[in-house]
Amino acid sequence: MDPFVPARLGPIELRNRIIKAATFEGMSSSHRVSDSLIEFHEAFARGLVGLTTVAYCAVSPEGCGTKNEIVVTDETQEGFARLARQIHDSKGKVSVQLGHAGAVATAAGLRGYSPSPIFSPVTMRRTLALTRAQIYDVVRDFGRATKILKDANIDAVEVHVGHGYLLSEFLSPKLNRRKDEWGGDLPNRARLARLVLEEVREQAGDSMAVIAKLNMVDAVSGGLGVPESIEVAKMFEADGNIDALVLTAGSSLQNPMFLFRGQVPLDEFAKNFKQPLRLGFRVFGKKFFRYFPYEEAYLLDLARQFRENLRIPLVLLGGISNVATIYKAMDEGFEFVAMARALLREPDLIAKYCDKLTSQSACTHCNKCMPTIYTGTHCVLVDPSARPGLALNL
Ligand SMILES: Cc1cc2nc3c(=O)[nH]c(=O)nc-3n(C[C@H](O)[C@H](O)[C@H](O)COP(=O)(O)O)c2cc1C
Ligand code: SF4
Repeated sequence: MDPFVPARLGPIELRNRIIKAATFEGMSSSHRVSDSLIEFHEAFARGLVGLTTVAYCAVSPEGCGTKNEIVVTDETQEGFARLARQIHDSKGKVSVQLGHAGAVATAAGLRGYSPSPIFSPVTMRRTLALTRAQIYDVVRDFGRATKILKDANIDAVEVHVGHGYLLSEFLSPKLNRRKDEWGGDLPNRARLARLVLEEVREQAGDSMAVIAKLNMVDAVSGGLGVPESIEVAKMFEADGNIDALVLTAGSSLQNPMFLFRGQVPLDEFAKNFKQPLRLGFRVFGKKFFRYFPYEEAYLLDLARQFRENLRIPLVLLGGISNVATIYKAMDEGFEFVAMARALLREPDLIAKYCDKLTSQSACTHCNKCMPTIYTGTHCVLVDPSARPGLALNL
């Protein structure tokens, strides 16, 4: 498979098999699409990425994971339509990641909802367990948000089923201790994610692609493991509601560095907090941000196990920075690759690959872009005057 020629993703056609993975932009303090956000994504489309992903957008206010993110409401439709027009003008396609933060909402100072209550060291309170009625509200919220995006001409939605956000909390035997039909065995724990995907497919219809980003493993003691995650992926495949599955891992709640690898930017993170949280961060941060060495394609071994067991299109993610890795992914049967930091470092990297100007990203995996999500996400090594989305008209 040639990664650099047009390819179908469900009902849509991409100009190649490269997806810009979600990197939360921090450019929406008014919860709307800003000019900076559009400019940020235009840079990837102009740089020949096949599909650029608008990072985490909440389906409801209580599903926010930070204060500066988009909540998809009718009021955001015009902004998304403008974003879609600009990306299409650059001959690109655009996806929007939809999620409910669950207990991660405590990071935004909210009480946080989860399958069963858990203690949050940020709010110093327990989260609230969703009632049955609230679970159905969540399903409807995903559907409503999808319809808004579809009407705005967005090409794809990516449902977040990873990183310890609400849908992945339901999958986790550790975080989901419910005794009703939403907890217990795997079919019960997977019920919410499957219902959400069914509703999203229903609203997306046959012109918009539907993607799920699923944790292969939580990498947390007692969390979702590989065998169960493969079973969940098989359920998604049998349900027929998704066009591709992005394979991720780790937990924003309990083991964030597992999904990034590389250096831990503790000091840079701490600067974003006021005392006494800053002190707490410095003291406990090392335990929370465990170090995992960075390797090229660090999720490939895990992802192979999914490839062996599934027929649906799979997206390989995690540490793809060399063009040879993209060809290797195709050789191993992955239909797409998703790249986050390599493209944040160089939005025109795919164009450079195509022109044979380079074969390797200049990203150093310093991870210092991570704390920039609070102020406008960027690679700290990029000259500020050349940064897309610099005009922070939030
Ligand atoms: C600054 C930054 C913000 C991120 N925000 C999101 C996000 O909003 N949603 C998500 O699913 N993943 C997010 N990620 C994770 C990436 O999508 C990706 O899974 C991870 O960086 C590994 O891919 P890479 O090695 O190509 O960077 C973020 C990553 C970075 C560096
Ligand atoms: S700050 Fe730049 S070089 Fe460092 S990890 Fe992020 S994108 Fe790569």
